[in-house]
Amino acid sequence: MNKKHILSPEEILAQKTYIEQMRRENDAYAAQTGKRRGAFVMTFGCQQNEADSEKIAGMAKSMGYSLVTDPECADLIMVNTCAIREHAEQKALSIIVKYKHIKAKNPDLVIGVCGCMVAQEHRKNDIKFRYPYVDFVFGTASLHRFPQLLCQKLEKGKRLYCPEETEYTVAEDLPIHRESDYRAWVSIMYGCNNFCSYCIVPYVRGRERSREMHKIVEEVQGLVRDGYKDITLLGQNVNSYAKDSGFPYDFADLLRELDKIEGDYVLRFMTSHPKDADRKLIDVMADSGHIAHQFHLPMQSGSDRILSLMNRKYDTAKYLDIVDYMRKKMPDVTLTSDIIVGFPGETEEDFEGTMRMLETVRFDMLYSFIYSPRKGTPAAEMEQVPQAVKSQRFERLLELQGRIGKEKNDLLVGKTLRVLCDGVSKNNSELYSGRTEGNKIAFFEGDVEDAGKFVNITVKRADAFALYGEKI
Ligand code: SAH
Ligand code: SF4
Ligand code: F3S
Repeated sequence: MNKKHILSPEEILAQKTYIEQMRRENDAYAAQTGKRRGAFVMTFGCQQNEADSEKIAGMAKSMGYSLVTDPECADLIMVNTCAIREHAEQKALSIIVKYKHIKAKNPDLVIGVCGCMVAQEHRKNDIKFRYPYVDFVFGTASLHRFPQLLCQKLEKGKRLYCPEETEYTVAEDLPIHRESDYRAWVSIMYGCNNFCSYCIVPYVRGRERSREMHKIVEEVQGLVRDGYKDITLLGQNVNSYAKDSGFPYDFADLLRELDKIEGDYVLRFMTSHPKDADRKLIDVMADSGHIAHQFHLPMQSGSDRILSLMNRKYDTAKYLDIVDYMRKKMPDVTLTSDIIVGFPGETEEDFEGTMRMLETVRFDMLYSFIYSPRKGTPAAEMEQVPQAVKSQRFERLLELQGRIGKEKNDLLVGKTLRVLCDGVSKNNSELYSGRTEGNKIAFFEGDVEDAGKFVNITVKRADAFALYGEKI
């Protein structure tokens, strides 16, 4: 068994000492001025990054900052960045420029940039040379050192760049400030070993490393005790949980343990990888009391040739085999996937293969992406598909999935489903919205007191992306 990747309690304690130091300073400032310093955290990217931001916010709060929702009112702004596609990086860079204007009005404002984008040396250098108003920068490996880096920055006054960050660890027991009081993220592992040829994640989040099962069980027990209703376990490839460390259990064992926790809650997980999703896992799901019958299984392409170029290590036959078994054991399962359109060398025939797989599998929903070359990944060096072809294929894919998604959702009309209510809908203030066990969005006429609770609705109509129902 290998626990070398788990940070020692002494190292965590060292960060807690910095937290205390900042706390004293911020308390003194509040006592003097009658105003507490504010911290604002801006997050780009996936749920992993949202979970990381909850740690940044938790540490900031412990350091005596009040968390603010308006960057204009902040004394500390943290931008947690993503590098998955060009667009994600451009969005982060343009928001950093916006914060420059806030700093012009408040020269004491401290701006920090962290996360996947700046785990790349070339992006760190971009910030260094082209964004001089950014005060400190650190990548995902240094997340737990945020208190130390902030203290050092404030003490020395100079801009601070973490040098080569290559030591990827698991840091337990950091403070977390959760955004919601009924939905929670729980990271069970970090990093990725798969090196899909298009993907930047293994380069910016390091190798796979898992948390120990008892730490995860404790965290989930605490969440259920605190009334959390919807808990999502996170990892880039949760199916390989614990394998990296040689722990004497696997992901299915973890799920079985968590399922024993008593209470009224739903457990989900993401993301799975078709090369590692096995029958044992599906059996545990099917037999469980709390695990949602929902599976997000990225397929990426429906062409075996492209899957091989992508280094995905499965083919369409293997993918269909998992789907068949899943649907046999859980006929009500909601199945979603990720698709990349326009991977280098994708021919019309390859793309037709993807379209055929959509017709065969009939996903409930798809997250589809136009391939974006990532510096340093093998696919970025391959022969690229012209932008116009990529866009046109993307439109065709969306159109087909729009039809299938609507047909799948129509099957739910007349059914009664349990929905975890999120309160008044952001898009339609006359309706309340929530998520079904399958994680589908549902709209209905609700009440203030429904927010954060399970309600039952009868589905009256559906479109490709949502269900519309009546509360009973
Ligand atoms: N670990 C997960 C999620 C990775 S990122 C997994 O293995 O599925 C989420 C999705 O972004 C991926 O599934 C993929 O579909 C997409 N993606 C990753 N790199 C991309 C790139 N360079 N261009 C376009 N989409 C990409
Ligand atoms: Fe990226 Fe592949 Fe790892 Fe997912 S499994 S994070 S797509 S390299
Ligand atoms: Fe997530 Fe983006 Fe990093 S998708 S892992 S935040 S590159």
